[in-house]
Amino acid sequence: MPSRPSVYLETFGCQMNELDSELVTGQLVALGYAMVAEPNLAQVVLYNTCSVRDLAEQKVRSRLGEMRIRKQNDPAIVVGVLGCMAERDGAALINKFPAVDVLCGPAELDKLPGLLDNAWRTRQSMVNDFENGSSRGVGGSAKQIALQGDASRRSSTLAAAQDTLELLDLSRSVSPSDHSGSAYVRITRGCNKFCTYCVVPNTRGAEMHRPPDHIIDECKRLADAGVIEITLLGQTVNHYRYEHGAAITVAGIEQPQKGRTYKGGHQRDILAGERVTTFADLLKRIHDEVPAILRLRFVTSYPRDFGDDVLEVIRDSPRICRYLHVPAQSGSDTQLSRMNRGYTVSEYMDFLDRARAILHEPEKGRPLTIAGDMIVGFCGETDEDFRASIDLLERARYKNCFIFKYSPRPGTSAFDKIADDVPEDVKRKRCNDLLAVQHRISDEVAQEQVGRTFDVFVEGASRHEQKKRKASADGNAGINLTVGGRAVSDPSGGIAVIDHDDAPTQLSGRTDGDLIVVFDRPEGKPLESLVGGIHKVRITKANVLTLFGELV
Ligand code: 5AD
Ligand code: SF4
Repeated sequence: MPSRPSVYLETFGCQMNELDSELVTGQLVALGYAMVAEPNLAQVVLYNTCSVRDLAEQKVRSRLGEMRIRKQNDPAIVVGVLGCMAERDGAALINKFPAVDVLCGPAELDKLPGLLDNAWRTRQSMVNDFENGSSRGVGGSAKQIALQGDASRRSSTLAAAQDTLELLDLSRSVSPSDHSGSAYVRITRGCNKFCTYCVVPNTRGAEMHRPPDHIIDECKRLADAGVIEITLLGQTVNHYRYEHGAAITVAGIEQPQKGRTYKGGHQRDILAGERVTTFADLLKRIHDEVPAILRLRFVTSYPRDFGDDVLEVIRDSPRICRYLHVPAQSGSDTQLSRMNRGYTVSEYMDFLDRARAILHEPEKGRPLTIAGDMIVGFCGETDEDFRASIDLLERARYKNCFIFKYSPRPGTSAFDKIADDVPEDVKRKRCNDLLAVQHRISDEVAQEQVGRTFDVFVEGASRHEQKKRKASADGNAGINLTVGGRAVSDPSGGIAVIDHDDAPTQLSGRTDGDLIVVFDRPEGKPLESLVGGIHKVRITKANVLTLFGELV
């Protein structure tokens, strides 16, 4: 077999993209491709892209501009755009950036090896032809494209039968060297919500739920490889629902089902019986059947249809984290309706009250922490609507909140139907004002933790310690104390366990509520006895980003 080209893969955007990149990497490595850390060292350069906001796309466009220049000197190189931007722009992206050879949408990633192989061979033969004086030349076109296009919203039967993407998740390579104690597991793909501002339902297609046995198997394999923390992923993760017996099998493999949303409010899912695995059932199964997973969390939750059954399973399962990421997006009912979010502010606040009533137990060292997302400057947002968003933040008291300026996205219904009428300077000011409010609240939430003792998953040297070491190691290349690593790389590039005298003294980790905790390693306590494990830390002081404490 001819040797495979080297590949550089850069990931933009969300955790779902990080997981996709991990799966793509595993698939390519299994086929003999070598992954490299620098684009300059690669013969194939891939960008796994995000289209949620224009800013994320701008970064990719600038990378593609750089690749156009590089390709002038190195015409054999293959450039690929994967993910949401490929799906959204389609062939138009190639017209704009002819340097792009491969386009692969997020629902087609299982086809990537075939596309890359074709693209690589084509580029090679074009370069050879050119060097031999043949007419085709390196400007010739043989673009490799796999996009979901209109297939994304076909009938559930067809969609499930065609979901060969499940095979990509199933083929995940899981070895101890791939993970530093923490991993993502997908439970649903796509989204059926059609919030008017959002491209995801177009780029990732219809909501599909993976069979529970596949999910449990993956968790077990990760646990066997040393993973102790798993984050379940889905765009609306709490809508997970799998009907047994309704499954379609392709090549003997049960396929995911198209989402059927549970609309039970805070009731239980009354239709659920033995034949249905609800989200609550799934959480309980993973918790009970994979006890080596010491931390189980999930993102992102949709505020509607979040049953008490899920909250009670979290309460009764010591290894499920008391952390929820539930975006509100706006504090104004008018705006929520324009966004097609399907809930009111009072319904959202009722959910937070319910979640806190069931899960907030600070006296047991288990406070519930909640994170949010807000969009400012969405179409038609008045000063009054914006004040309502400030009010929501004051009442929600998030641990942290991601705040975005509305970015109109072609292909969404807001882009087509509602004017983007909030001026850029007003968007910017509202964003800064909301950030300032959240900054104060995050600080207050952090101060509330002082005096409490938490179980902390210790990940490695603190950022401060990493910076200090990087500065002092100037010229002494190779020190790499990335969070989550058990070891540091030595100057020759190999992995070496740190000499204890030289081991970092300030360590960092996270509580089950995802609060960052920094503490000093007690003298004489070896690094390996702490990193990668869960240890009790008492919090002595706090700032907005970090809790500081001591090992107890
Ligand atoms: N403009 C700004 N923010 C957006 N988000 C999604 N679409 C847009 C958009 N067009 C935000 C939402 C979502 C998060 C992932 O990104 O807050 O929860
Ligand atoms: Fe986008 Fe709304 Fe789906 Fe989230 S729930 S991915 S914001 S459409």
